[in-house]
Amino acid sequence: MHDLAGQIAKRRTFAIISHPDAGKTTLTEKLLLRGGAINMAGTVKAKKSKLHARSDWMEIEKKRGISVTSSVLKFTTNNTELNLIDTPGHQDFSEDTYRTLTAVDSVLMLIDAANGVEEQTKKLFEVARMQHIPVMTFINKMDRDGKDPFELIDEIDQTLGITCCPLTWPTGSGRDFFGVFDRQLSKFITVDSSKNLPIPNQMAEELALLDGATENFDHDQYLRGQMAPVFFGSALTGFGVETILGAVCELAPPPQPAICTQRTVDPHEPVFSAFIFKIQANMDPSHRDQVAFMRICSGVFTKNMKVYVVRLRRHLRLSRPTKFMATDRSIVDEAYPGDIVGIHDPGVFAIGDTFTQGEELHFQGIVVFAPEHFATVDLKDPLKSKQLYKGLHQLSEEGAVQIFYKNYTRQVIVGVVGILQFDVVKFRLQAEYQLDTSWQHLPYSQARWIRGQPKDLQAFITEHSQHIFTDRHDRPVVLAENSWKIELWQKRHSKIEFRMQASIQSHDNCLG
Ligand code: G4P
Repeated sequence: MHDLAGQIAKRRTFAIISHPDAGKTTLTEKLLLRGGAINMAGTVKAKKSKLHARSDWMEIEKKRGISVTSSVLKFTTNNTELNLIDTPGHQDFSEDTYRTLTAVDSVLMLIDAANGVEEQTKKLFEVARMQHIPVMTFINKMDRDGKDPFELIDEIDQTLGITCCPLTWPTGSGRDFFGVFDRQLSKFITVDSSKNLPIPNQMAEELALLDGATENFDHDQYLRGQMAPVFFGSALTGFGVETILGAVCELAPPPQPAICTQRTVDPHEPVFSAFIFKIQANMDPSHRDQVAFMRICSGVFTKNMKVYVVRLRRHLRLSRPTKFMATDRSIVDEAYPGDIVGIHDPGVFAIGDTFTQGEELHFQGIVVFAPEHFATVDLKDPLKSKQLYKGLHQLSEEGAVQIFYKNYTRQVIVGVVGILQFDVVKFRLQAEYQLDTSWQHLPYSQARWIRGQPKDLQAFITEHSQHIFTDRHDRPVVLAENSWKIELWQKRHSKIEFRMQASIQSHDNCLG
C-alpha cells in the first residue's frame, strides 16, 4: 500500500524565473549543495557547463556549448522531495521556458538587487500569473551595491502588481551588507555567523517603517498568487539560501489539483494520470527518438505500467521511465503526483498528451504561447515540400515551433518565442529530414488568437485579412508588427477577444 497522501504532502515542484545573469545558475547550485544533492561547489562557470553537459543531448547543443532545453532536477531536503525544473533563459529562451511553468506548483522569482525587475522576469511573471501560480521572491547579489530595498519592494509591487511581504530585511548592501533580520523568527542573522552583532540602529528604524508600510504575511494570499514573500541574500556567498530553501519546503504548495476540460483531478485520486509538457530531442539525429517529460497529476506511477494515451486512444507501456537527479539519471520504480518523469518517445507523443487509466481527460493547463518571431521557410529542393510539411508538423507537435497558414495559399509561416529556435529548427530539418532550407524573417512581432461571435469575428477577419492566418487547429490568428497595433485593434473591436495563449488541444475553438 502506498502512502499516497504522505508522498503528496512532502513534494514541492517549482521553477526559478529570472532575467539572464540574475544568478539562477549560482542559486541552483547552492540549493543543490544545501539539499545535499551535490557535494562540491565548482565555480559557477564550471557548474554551468557541467549542467549543460548533462542535458547535452543534441548535437547543436554540443556545437554551441549552450543548453537549448531545460533540465529537471530532483533532490530531497528537510524530508521534502523537491522537483526543480530549470527554465532556459539566455539565448535559449523559448516556448519551453514558458511551458515549464505549466508543470510547476510554485515559482521562485530571482531578482538582481542592482537591476530590479528586468524584461525577461516580467514576461515570465506574467505567464506565472496567468496560471495563478504562487510566487516567492529572492533578491540576490546583496553582497554588491544595489538599489535601496524599499525601492526594490516598491518596484516589484508597481511593475508586477503583486503585494510584496518581506520576510527577511537586509542591513546595508555591498561591503556593508551585514545580514538580514528574519521577521518571522524575530532574529538577526549575520553574514559572519561567528560574530554576534547587535541589531544596528538604522535597521530598527527601517523595521518599524516596514511594519507600517507593508501588510502582514498571509499564506492564503500567497497561495492565490496575490502576495509574494520576499527574501534577501547572496547566491554567490550562499547567504540566505537556507532560508529560501526552508521557505520552499514550508510555504510553497504541494502538488495541486489539475483542471481538465471534463473535471478537476485531485492528486489524491488513486488512479494514475499525467500530462506531457515538454519533449526533448535525442542526441542521435538519425533516429527520431526523444524524451517526453510528464508531470504526474494523480495516483502512483510504477515501472512497466500501461497507460491510456487519450489523443491516440491507445494503451501503451511507457518505456525507460527516468528520473533526473542532480548528478545522474536513473530508472523510476515509482513516482507520485508532482514528480516529473522522462519517458522514451519513439516519435508518437505530442505536448499536451494526457495519460490516464482509461478515462477521457484533457488537461487544460498546457497551452501554446504567442510567438514573437516569424519567418517563411523555403526549400532549396522544391520537390521535398511534402517532407518539409511533415518535419514542421512533427516539430510543432513537439513544441519546438508553431506553424501558421495563410488561407487560400499554401504559404506556411513559422513562429517561435525565442529567436534561437529558428537555428534549432533549421538544424533539425537538416539532420533529421535531410532538408536544406532558407529562412526569410518577417516584420511581425506579435500574435493573438482571436475569438468572438461568428458575425464579429468575420467582420474583423475581412477587414484585416492580410494579417490573418490560421494555426494548425484551424483557429484564426492575427499577426502584427507591434503591440501598439494590437491595442488599437482591441479598442476598435471591443467584442473580439485577443488572446496571448491558446489551448494546445484542437477542441478549444475560436468561437466565443
Ligand atoms: P544566470 O544563471 O541567472 O544567468 O546567472 P549566473 O548564476 O550565471 O550568474 C551571473 C553572474 O552573476 C556570475 O558572474 C555570478 O558569479 C554572479 N552572481 C550570481 N549570484 C551572485 C551574488 O549573489 N553576488 C555576486 N556578487 N555575484 C553573483 P560571473 O561568473 O562573473 O559571470 P559573468 O559576469 O562573467 O557572466
